[in-house]
Amino acid sequence: MEYKAKVIAGLLTATCVFSIIALILSAVNVKDVFLPPGTKYGLVFDAGSTHTALYVYQWPADKENGTGIVSQVESCTVNGSGISSYADDPAGAGASLKPCLAKAMTIIPAEQQRQTPTYLGATAGMRLLREQNSTKAEQVFAEVTKAIREYPVDFRGAQILTGNEEGSFGWITVNYLLDTLIKFSFAGKWEHPQNTEVLGALDLGGASTQITFQPGVTIEDKNTSVLFRLYGTNYSLYTHSYLCYGQTQALKRLIAALHQVSQPLGSRICSTISHCHEKCLPENLYTYVEKVVGNWEPPVRGQFFAFSGFYYTFSFLNLTSQQSLSHVNATVWDFCNKNWSKLVETFPENKEHLHTYCVVGLYILTLLVDGYKFDEHTWSNIHFSQKAGNTDIGWTLGFMLNLTNMIPTEALELVKGQQPSLWAGAISFIVLAIVTGLVAILLQCFWKSK
Ligand SMILES: *[C@@H]1O[C@H](CO)[C@@H](O)[C@H](O)[C@H]1NC(C)=O
Ligand SMILES: *[C@@H]1O[C@H](CO)[C@@H](O)[C@H](O)[C@H]1NC(C)=O
Ligand SMILES: *[C@@H]1O[C@H](CO)[C@@H](O)[C@H](O)[C@H]1NC(C)=O
Ligand SMILES: *[C@@H]1O[C@H](CO)[C@@H](O)[C@H](O)[C@H]1NC(C)=O
Ligand SMILES: *[C@@H]1O[C@H](CO)[C@@H](O)[C@H](O)[C@H]1NC(C)=O
Ligand SMILES: *[C@@H]1O[C@H](CO)[C@@H](O)[C@H](O)[C@H]1NC(C)=O
Repeated sequence: MEYKAKVIAGLLTATCVFSIIALILSAVNVKDVFLPPGTKYGLVFDAGSTHTALYVYQWPADKENGTGIVSQVESCTVNGSGISSYADDPAGAGASLKPCLAKAMTIIPAEQQRQTPTYLGATAGMRLLREQNSTKAEQVFAEVTKAIREYPVDFRGAQILTGNEEGSFGWITVNYLLDTLIKFSFAGKWEHPQNTEVLGALDLGGASTQITFQPGVTIEDKNTSVLFRLYGTNYSLYTHSYLCYGQTQALKRLIAALHQVSQPLGSRICSTISHCHEKCLPENLYTYVEKVVGNWEPPVRGQFFAFSGFYYTFSFLNLTSQQSLSHVNATVWDFCNKNWSKLVETFPENKEHLHTYCVVGLYILTLLVDGYKFDEHTWSNIHFSQKAGNTDIGWTLGFMLNLTNMIPTEALELVKGQQPSLWAGAISFIVLAIVTGLVAILLQCFWKSK
């Protein structure tokens, strides 16, 4: 009997020892480990006046002071023209979006599609259509909504952005891409950049033009002031949008007035301009801009980033490298006074757009100088550029970025981490302890039953 008790005691001692070793192994060198944050996705349709594009964005689910670090994954240009051109065939507008949606579905992991917020923002083209016939605008939106709802995404609605929203989201995009809102520091962290001024944004679209900047003074008028909170910092902006004074509309009016294109354009432009809406029937370009931008208020301040239409025209005229205002003025007029047939000979590949460069060039000059009151001095603060940090500029990135404020943060998942060898050792000793314990119990029962 004696030896049986000894065996049991030995087995129990071994169980205890193994348990203690397992406990020690699992307690030493344990580290706190954060699992990498998940990735969130968002889709934004930019339904512009001339075409529609779909942007796929992503950001890490943990945010910086409440705002996501958003990057563009993919963009897809919708075939055909803008959705406002489907006024008489609304179903066509919906159908046109499907190839791009299908493409986005191949990028976003299937398990995340249902939580992917999806927006459609329409700009000046739809603003004009709504003004002309709101029933038609609603029909287009209904068809577009129907088409997007066929895909497994979290569709948050189609909306017409106001010109001020378009301008201020463009401002966010510019400053985000130029690292003036947030910057990845040498220390390997995202930080609010010190000693950096934000830039103003100048946008010339197909049917509207926007100016947005930090005025440095308080803007009383709620219509033109906008407040953003991004990455923990408040920004108070002045923003103003002029509908129907965008490039295409201005051009239509200007060109309608020019009957014989075989002569120099400049001489006639400033004396004849046709109409846009009934509400604006100006006699010449100067009074035309003066009428709209007329009682322009806060003086322009700081550096400006001029993109889209501003860039396209000035890059053709080689005016995007910070030339002086007098040089720019001379170049535009010089171009306008060139003989038409000579121009066509010099730029045969640009024949279609040639007449627009003169008109838009003059329009830009008048808008910036007589409208916004840039002078020889402040002119050098305008940077004409198409891209910032290799990314095309538009309102969609800023829109997505501002919306990440509202999309809940996912707390980082904290886990306890063990080195694999220690972990394997601990597991082995736990198994040994269980086995010896079980053997002890079985032997005890076996001997008792005898
Ligand atoms: C656009 O149309 C072309 C030719 O019809 C086609 O090859 C292409 O896949 C289309 N792209 C999209 C995004 O619909
Ligand atoms: C607006 O469009 C609808 C639908 O196409 C049409 O029935 C209506 O007559 C239009 N209204 C105006 C004012 O043109
Ligand atoms: C977050 O806010 C804190 C306090 O306002 C600030 O010090 C920090 O720079 C901000 N972080 C970023 C990434 O902007
Ligand atoms: C602001 O906008 C509203 C509606 O568009 C207009 O009625 C009002 O006069 C505007 N206010 C100012 C100060 O311009
Ligand atoms: C920023 O704006 C929010 C309201 O949007 C306000 O509660 C907060 O106090 C402001 N912060 C600063 C530093 O001005
Ligand atoms: C930006 O996002 C906030 C929510 O974080 C929203 O309340 C605000 O209206 C947005 N700004 C604009 C101009 O849409």
